[in-house]
Amino acid sequence: MVKAVVLGAAGGIGQPLALLLKANPLVTELGLFDIVNTPGVAADLSHIATPAKVEGYLPADDGLAKALKGADVVVIPAGVPRKPGMTRDDLFKINAGIIKDLATGIAKAAPNAFVLVISNPVNSTVPIVAEVFKKFGTFDPKRLFGVTTLDVVRASTFVSEILGDLSLSKGVVVPVVGGHSGVTIVPLLSQSTHALPSSLDKSAYDALVNRIQFGGDEVVKAKNGAGSATLSMAYAGAEFAAKVIRAVRGEKGLVTPTYVNLSADAEGASDLTKELGEELAYFSANVELGVEGVVKISPLGKISEDEATLVKAAIPELAKNIQTGVTFVAEAY
Ligand code: NAD
Ligand code: LMR
Repeated sequence: MVKAVVLGAAGGIGQPLALLLKANPLVTELGLFDIVNTPGVAADLSHIATPAKVEGYLPADDGLAKALKGADVVVIPAGVPRKPGMTRDDLFKINAGIIKDLATGIAKAAPNAFVLVISNPVNSTVPIVAEVFKKFGTFDPKRLFGVTTLDVVRASTFVSEILGDLSLSKGVVVPVVGGHSGVTIVPLLSQSTHALPSSLDKSAYDALVNRIQFGGDEVVKAKNGAGSATLSMAYAGAEFAAKVIRAVRGEKGLVTPTYVNLSADAEGASDLTKELGEELAYFSANVELGVEGVVKISPLGKISEDEATLVKAAIPELAKNIQTGVTFVAEAY
């Protein structure tokens, strides 16, 4: 029995994500919360012949608490998306408050749930959730995840394109580490399961790295004011949620990059901190999942000189983003 809940379920990501969770046979209950339209989304999805019982909730009558009751996994795509010319950090002003309120609801109604944060800026919204949970005494770093899977999905796709065979893409695994915005997105292409062609010169390599780092901007530009990635994000979010759900149900050895608090694995984190050369509370790295959440955070391992330069560039930006989230909650109480 697994109850999954989507907060922001009527949105551009929320609806297709809810669809993919409804299609997941391991989900037996699906709670949908948004400030609008969830009864309609829930009625629609409820006709699909899969096990999950679907309920939609609005804020009235304690809807958030009702949606969250008994939740095992909570996925949060609530909040505003970018328009052309904006950075993810420009979303902080609006999304920080939304995330703080939703985290408060989770701390009260589902303190043991696994929480998967999609809302941007992820580098800051994850620390906001953690700080709120600390205020309520419910913070377990093993159960809080920033969803960076879209960067991993993009890396698989773009590398497969370069290899000239898109049918490879699901099997092409590239660890993408750091965070989820611009220079904090660091693809470790030297660790790709499929080596890049030896003919790929430095400028083509740089262009590939840049495309993975700024893939989000490509979609924002193409949507021309109508938002950012929704369908690819729903796919990526459902992939990550499915791994968490499999881990919750006892499957071992599932490893995927995700943005976590490094205290979730004191041993692995200390190795990673050594490699980073600086204390950072959060970082996206390959994480092994288990029934209790984070089992192990992998160190970076052997990386190329180019990758070491990218990691170095990511650290100060990440540190700033993390502090912004922490300060926001400190000032709110
Ligand atoms: P959207 O505007 O289409 O949907 C957002 C939904 O959130 C809306 O339905 C809205 O009503 C709802 N909402 C707003 N305030 C809420 C609240 N207090 N409680 C519950 N629901 C609330 O936006 P979208 O395209 O779905 O994007 C959502 C977020 O996801 C954005 O912040 C976007 O930047 C982010 N995003 C992250 C990634 C990633 O890789 N992590 C990828 C794409 C988008
Ligand atoms: C993405 O990477 O597509 C998302 O973070 C949305 C965005 O603002 O680019």
